[in-house]
Amino acid sequence: MGRVYLKQLLAGRDFAESDFAAGQMMNFVYLIGDRDAGECVVADPAWDVDGIIAAAEADGMKITGALATHYHPDHVGGEIFGMNIQGLPRLMEINPCKTHVHKLEADGVRMVTGLADSDLVKHESGDVLKVGEVEIEMLHTPGHTPGSLCFRLKDALIAGDTLFLQGCGRVDLPGGDPDEMYYTLTQRLSKLPGDMILFPGHAYGGEHAAMEKVRRTNPYLQIKDINTWRRHMG
Ligand SMILES: [Fe+2]
Repeated sequence: MGRVYLKQLLAGRDFAESDFAAGQMMNFVYLIGDRDAGECVVADPAWDVDGIIAAAEADGMKITGALATHYHPDHVGGEIFGMNIQGLPRLMEINPCKTHVHKLEADGVRMVTGLADSDLVKHESGDVLKVGEVEIEMLHTPGHTPGSLCFRLKDALIAGDTLFLQGCGRVDLPGGDPDEMYYTLTQRLSKLPGDMILFPGHAYGGEHAAMEKVRRTNPYLQIKDINTWRRHMG
């Protein structure tokens, strides 16, 4: 990948090692940046922000921003299932920086994290964030939540809870929309090259794989019409 820096960190294994819930939830956090510039952003910092920063520092990388795939507390911090998960507020405390979100997700992120509007940079689909010389494109992929984002590097897709190796994000939670998820999977993400590597938001069914393989093996991508999809997901 040359100067592109991409590090996949699994909660409960690579950080938050002693947090049983983190191990159960199997969230991935990603560090994405420019190795030569020594700069990166962190996607979905949650569970153990100090541990995530330590992982970046161990690679000689400074975190200069955060990305949020969506507003769920296991990705950005906040209360869920009676737990208070560490996340963006802790990052603001020890490594202040802006958080990049889709414009439709900003209210949700503020609600669950308590961040201020001025802490956020609101994006449209297609926006490009430069970290050093490395470009990260924001793809709006609604369905799991209204403002879900995937982050596209040259040959990698950080997909949050939009797409896993063997599934897709739930559409039955508040803000979930089965039809939008169908259009995301069959249209918005359908043009991505087969050799692009999918990096999901949870280790459900695997850690990463080429899109070409995911398209062949993910049962949710085998459904060919929206009425069948609605019967499965509605
Ligand atoms: Fe989620």
